[in-house]
Amino acid sequence: MIAKPKGTKDVMPTEVYKWHHVENAFRETCLRFGFKEIRTPLFEYTKLFKRGVGETTDIVNKEMYSVVTGVDLRKVRNDDAGREAFFKELDNDGFTLKPEGTAPVVRAFVENKVFADAQPTKMYYITPCFRHERPQAGRLRQFHQFGIEVFGSHEATADAEVIALADTFLRDVGITGISLEINSVGCPKCRPVYHQALKAYLAERLDKLCTTCNDRYEKNPMRILDCKVPSCQEILVEPPLMVDYLCEDCTDHFNSLQSYLKALEVEFTVNPKIVRGLDYYTKTAFEFVSGDVGAQSTLCGGGRYDGLVEQIDGPATPGVGFGLGIERLLLALENTGKVFPEPPKTDVYIAAMGEEALVVGMGMTRKMREKGLIVEIDHLKRSFKAQFKFADKLSAKRVVIIGEDEVKNGIFSVKDMTTGEQKTVPMAELETYLDGLTIM
Ligand code: HAM
Repeated sequence: MIAKPKGTKDVMPTEVYKWHHVENAFRETCLRFGFKEIRTPLFEYTKLFKRGVGETTDIVNKEMYSVVTGVDLRKVRNDDAGREAFFKELDNDGFTLKPEGTAPVVRAFVENKVFADAQPTKMYYITPCFRHERPQAGRLRQFHQFGIEVFGSHEATADAEVIALADTFLRDVGITGISLEINSVGCPKCRPVYHQALKAYLAERLDKLCTTCNDRYEKNPMRILDCKVPSCQEILVEPPLMVDYLCEDCTDHFNSLQSYLKALEVEFTVNPKIVRGLDYYTKTAFEFVSGDVGAQSTLCGGGRYDGLVEQIDGPATPGVGFGLGIERLLLALENTGKVFPEPPKTDVYIAAMGEEALVVGMGMTRKMREKGLIVEIDHLKRSFKAQFKFADKLSAKRVVIIGEDEVKNGIFSVKDMTTGEQKTVPMAELETYLDGLTIM
C-alpha cells in the first residue's frame, strides 16, 4: 500500500463539513470587512520566498519544498563546480511550493499593478502551504491557512482592522480560551539601535545559549528572545526589549493601535517578546494563542510589513495582514467540544426494482433534483430490503418505491422514514407531490 506523505492529511467526506463550516464563516467575515478573495499559484519562483520571507528564517533555510525542472539530476557534475551550478539554477529558475501566503500576494499586487488603483487594497485567501517541519499535533508539512492582507495604509487603523477581523472570526466560529498578544518590532530606523543593545547583552551569554541562538546572533538576534529551549529562557532574564527603543513614529503607531483596539472592544495584552519567525515585519506584530491545541498554540499570527512590496520590486507600499492555521483552528474547536452543523441528509431515496422501474426512477431523480432536493437512487441492483437498509444508513427522510406493480399501475409509493407512514401517489401527480415537499 502506498501511504500518504508524512505530515499530510486526507480530509475525508465524513469530516469535510467541518472545513466547509469554517471556510464559509471566514468568507462571510471577510465580506463584512470589505475584503475580496485572491487566488495565487501553488508554486512560485524560489527567489520570491528567499527575498520575501528572508534568508535568515527557518522557512527559507530548512523548510522549503523546492524543485528545479528540466535538469537531469543524474547528469549534474558531482564536484564543487557542478553542484554550485546546480544550486544557482535552483535559486534562479527553481520553483518552491508556497510556504506561506503573503509573499505570493505581494508578488501578485506588484505584477498586476494593483498599486495603481485607489488604495487601500484588501484581499483574503484560503490556501494550502508547505513546510518541511517535524510533524506533530497541529504541525503538518502540508497545512492550510486563512489569510488577509491590506496594502496602501500606514495608519494603525488598518492594523486594528486586521486584528479585529481575526478576533471577530475566531469568536463567531466558537473559539474560546484564546488570548491576543501584540508587540511592536520597530522599523529600519530604530531597530539597528536596539540590535546593538541586544547584542551587547547577548554577547556575555553566548557560550551558554544553544547553537541555534548562536547562529542567530549575527543574522537575526531578536529571534533569540523567541528560543523555546528552557536553558536559554533561564539565561535571558530581563533582556533589552524593542518596545523601549522604538522611535517616535513607531511609538505613536503602537499607541494608536492600542487605542483603536480598545475602541473595537478587542482584548489584548502587550507581550514585548513576540518577534515572529518571518523577516518582513515592521512595527506591529501579533499572535492569537490558544490554550486548547497543545504545544503548537499559535492559531493566528501576523503584523505589518512596510518594506516588503518594495523588496519584491514594487513601489514603496505599506502592508499589514495575518495567517491563521486551519488545522490548528479545527483542533482547538474540537478540543473545546464544538458541535459543527451536520451536512443536510438525503431528502428522497429512490428504491427501484427491475429495468422499467429504474427508467422511471432515473427520470424522477432529474425532476426532484431540479426542485432542489437531495436525491439518491440505487446503483447496485440490490433487493428492496437491501435498498431500504442503505436508505436508512444515509438517514434518508423518505423512500420512493417503484416496483413492477407500480410501473404497471402508473403510481409510486412513498414511505416516510421518520413516521413509518406509507402512501401511494399517481405518477401524473408527481409535480404536485414535489411542490408539497419543497414547502415542507
Ligand atoms: P506564520 O506565523 O508562519 O505566518 O503562520 C501563520 C499560521 O499558520 C500559524 O499561526 C499557524 O496557525 C499556521 N501554521 C504555520 N506553520 C504550520 C504548520 N507547519 N502546520 C500547521 N499550521 C501551521 C505567516 O505565514 C504569515 N504569512 C502571516 C502573515 C500574513 N503576516 C502578514 N500577513
